[in-house]
Formats: sequence, structure tokens, C-alpha cells
Amino acid sequence: MLTSTEYVRQSIETNLFFLRIMKEHLIFAAAALTLKDSNQVPAIMNIKNKFEALLINTISLARGVVRPQSLAAGDIITPYTYNAEIATQNYTGLPINTEITRQEAALSNTSSSAAGPMIEQSVNTLNRQIIVLLATAIQTQRALITNVLSCKMFTNMYPLMMEHVTREAEHYLQHLQTLQSYQSLTDGPRTAAIAEIFWNNIMGEHSKFIRGLLDPTEEDLIQKANGFAGQFDELLRAARAAYNNLQLSPGVTRRSMSAAINIRNFKAQGTQGILACKIRSIILPLLSDHVLREANHYLKELREFKM
Ligand SMILES: [Fe+2]
Repeated sequence: MLTSTEYVRQSIETNLFFLRIMKEHLIFAAAALTLKDSNQVPAIMNIKNKFEALLINTISLARGVVRPQSLAAGDIITPYTYNAEIATQNYTGLPINTEITRQEAALSNTSSSAAGPMIEQSVNTLNRQIIVLLATAIQTQRALITNVLSCKMFTNMYPLMMEHVTREAEHYLQHLQTLQSYQSLTDGPRTAAIAEIFWNNIMGEHSKFIRGLLDPTEEDLIQKANGFAGQFDELLRAARAAYNNLQLSPGVTRRSMSAAINIRNFKAQGTQGILACKIRSIILPLLSDHVLREANHYLKELREFKM
């Protein structure tokens, strides 16, 4: 069972990472619609705005709760996030609340323990509100996938990427349900094995998205992305095999960590190159920063698991 302090901390750190991820998925979905379906943009942006409101709420509860090493992990924001948001807003015309990013950057300047006794109740309410909104987001994304897969609709997003973002929403929902029953997100080899399977799959899919969204002239980068795709496919199989044998393999964990560091560096360079207009692609700058943060998050999880 989680202590009250741990429940609050794990909830806040989880929400700081995933709420931003969720709102960005909706920005990517809206940006991918064709002119014919532009009438769906307001409904999608409305869900995005609700995630932003809950993120603002989370930030206000985070002061003195979130650990410095968590702020330093680079999964909440990176040095590129603000510029990536400005560029993406300019490209797509979709509004992005960059004040949130400024507030997140300021979190590291807060001195510890502003948390009062009422915070546990506030976090409980917050988590329950997020669970409700996640159900709406998942439903909306599933409806898009169904229409695209039955060829009733066209979008500029890979169907696999639609499924990928929906799986991330479901993963987040499971985390919140675990927290709401006061169970830890980091204890036990089974939890760690499940996370390795989930994130190795996500990193492999990122590699394939990047490979396919780069301009065909970017041959070196395409080759690198392809290399990561093969590496994470293999690591996914190894993580699944370890899980099925009911034992977490330290070798798989070590190799996953090394591959995650390499793809993180690749994504950081990619984000810099895209923002500097040095890489030809159809990757939105915020998408590049987004997948960078997810690699940082996977690395944070790998460091923190108690086996
Ligand atoms: Fe994502």
C-alpha cells in the first residue's frame, strides 16, 4: 500500500508527464484532419483544452511535491518544448497554451514542501477528473480509427500512430486506476517487465514513424531510424520472453536502457534539426519534442524500478 505522501507524489509526477502527452495527441490528431473534416477540430480542441486545464491544476499542486530528479528527467518539458510549441502553433494555426510550459519550467525554482494536509483530497479529485476525461479522449480516438480503417475517412496520420496514441491513453488510465487503489507504479518485477514491454514497443513504433515521416532525401537519418526499429523490435521480443518466463532479465533491462539512451539522443538531435530548419520532413516540431520526452520518461522508469 502506498503512503499518503507517495500516493500524492506518484500521482503528480504521472499527471505532469501524461497530461501534456494527452493534450498533444489531440493537437496532432486535429492537425492531421483534411479540409473536409475540419468541422471536427473544435470538438477535438475542446478535449485538448480540458487536458490543459487539468495540467494547470496539477502544476498548482506540484510545488514542493515533485522531486528535483523528476524535474530533471526531461519528461515534463525539454529545453526545446517552448520553441516547438510556438513553431507548431504557427504552422497549424491550432492554439497552444505556452503559459503552461513557462509554469512547468518555474517548478524547479520552488523550495520544497508547500504541500498541506488537504493535498491528498485534491489529488484524489484530480485523478478522478482525469479518468473521466481519458474515457472521452479514448472514445474520440477510437471513433477516428474506426472511420479511417473502414475507409470512410482520410487523415494525414498513420493508422498505427492513432492506435499508438490510444494505447498510451489506456496505459495512463491503468496507471491512475492503480494509484486510486493505493498501489505503487514502481514496485515489483512484474510491473517493471510490463513497462519494458510497453515502452520497447512504443520506442520501436516511434522509430518507424520517424523513418516514414522523414523526407526521402534524408537517407542517413532514415537508416538510423530503421536501425532503432530493428533494435526495439528485438528488445520487445526479449522483454516478452522474459515476462513469459516469469523472470525479469537484467540483460534485457540493461540493453533496453542503452537503446533508450541512444534513441533519446537521436530524437534530441532531430528536434534541434527540425527547429533549426535543417532537416526535411513532415514531422511537426512538437511531435519531435513529444517523442523525445517519451524516451526520457522511459529512461526515468528504468532507473526507478524496484525489482
Ligand atoms: Fe505519445
